[in-house]
Amino acid sequence: MSSNEIIDSSQGSPRGRAHWSSRVGFVLAAAGSAIGLGNIWKFPYITGEFGGGAFVIVYLGCVLLLGLPLMVAELMVGRRAQTNPVGAFQVLHKPGSLWQTAGWLGVASGFIILSFYSVIAGWAIAYVFKSLAGFTGTAEQIQGQFVALVTNPVQSIFWHTLFMALTIAIVAGGIKNGIERWSKILMPSLFILLTGLMFYGLFGTSGGWQAVSFLFNPDFSKLTATGFLSALGHAFFTLSLGMGAMITYGSYMERGANIVKDAITISILDTVIALMAGIAIFSLVFHYGMEPGQSVGLIFKTLPVLFKETGRWISVPFFVLLTFAALTSAISLLEVVVSYFVDRLGWKRVKATITMGTVTYLIGILSAVVSWQVSFRGQQQGFLNIFDYLTTNYMLPIGGVLTCLFVAWVMKEKDVQEEFGSTGLAYKGLRILLGYVTPLAVLMVLLHGLELLPFVSYE
Ligand code: PFF
Repeated sequence: MSSNEIIDSSQGSPRGRAHWSSRVGFVLAAAGSAIGLGNIWKFPYITGEFGGGAFVIVYLGCVLLLGLPLMVAELMVGRRAQTNPVGAFQVLHKPGSLWQTAGWLGVASGFIILSFYSVIAGWAIAYVFKSLAGFTGTAEQIQGQFVALVTNPVQSIFWHTLFMALTIAIVAGGIKNGIERWSKILMPSLFILLTGLMFYGLFGTSGGWQAVSFLFNPDFSKLTATGFLSALGHAFFTLSLGMGAMITYGSYMERGANIVKDAITISILDTVIALMAGIAIFSLVFHYGMEPGQSVGLIFKTLPVLFKETGRWISVPFFVLLTFAALTSAISLLEVVVSYFVDRLGWKRVKATITMGTVTYLIGILSAVVSWQVSFRGQQQGFLNIFDYLTTNYMLPIGGVLTCLFVAWVMKEKDVQEEFGSTGLAYKGLRILLGYVTPLAVLMVLLHGLELLPFVSYE
């Protein structure tokens, strides 16, 4: 089969392929994919764990030097190939190319990440209702509500079902009428809610400036090698890189748009939202004299205790925005999987979405029932942790590094230049970053995941 046949035999052929209706629509959808639980749940708690400002600086450096080039690379691959991640590597190299492994990894990661992402997002919806009811009782009782929720399989599965149903409904609507339309509604709403919460944190509490100083005042003595590498891994996760999400969204782009400009806009939006969430959350934490390093429980255990004091008008918008952020990311995870079944197997979008959404939903039940544990890396662990560990530490970095190497060394130079739009200094810089810097940095993350880095202590 020639590469052209691969394109033409698919239902999503370039000619018949859906495209974003506008640049704003694409940027909002891609920023929607990037901005998610990673920004509002994960970024604040890992920043807290690794001591604040110094971690933030390293994270910003990783976004700029590693994340941004990889996002440009993924968008270029997608737009050039005009097909799903598995097909893209074949179209741009040759049929049966081994590089398609990167695409396969992406589709597999889409299934796995979405399966547990939906469980956590389900808890966010549950907390919208808990906030509406109001948090009462002692700190232990309020924190106990979270334990009660996650250890009750019926409740956890119920919220997971609801979240997955919403995700399926949006993706089934298609690119323009589903993903783009909802991103245009949810993203500005998220921004307005978060702006309100940030200003409340800055000016309505006594912890505002302490929060800003915690995030921006670096204390490098607190930054460990693990913190450094976590910043790197998180930069990939938060920008939705390494699993073909940006390849998929890029495949719905028209020629002509400036990929570099759009990637910069998306990365800036993602970073700004994470920092705004950090300010909003840490203002409250400092106002009530709590410690910033609260680990995973920061949002679902610590914040509700503080929300008891602030009242519903802060807690309800917070969990609504968390749900919106999760939803626009979840749709991109499902879209990666759906695009493969639509393009390659010729399935109708609605059939592909419902079938694959349901399969992912069923895998998610493994994560929703926390008492189901297996032995993993010498410990009994739940599936949510195992899936998160495997995707963040292995699958995304490997997928990312393969894409970098592909664009730098395998893809036709003419194709890369045309997609990039120039051959000047910026282009040369991109090639160096993709060909050497990013792969080396990612290799470090991988070795760190395997606990094999010589200069880090893994006791
Ligand atoms: N970027 C999302 C977040 O920060 O929550 C997570 C994510 C979405 C990762 C889509 C990967 C992906 F393809």
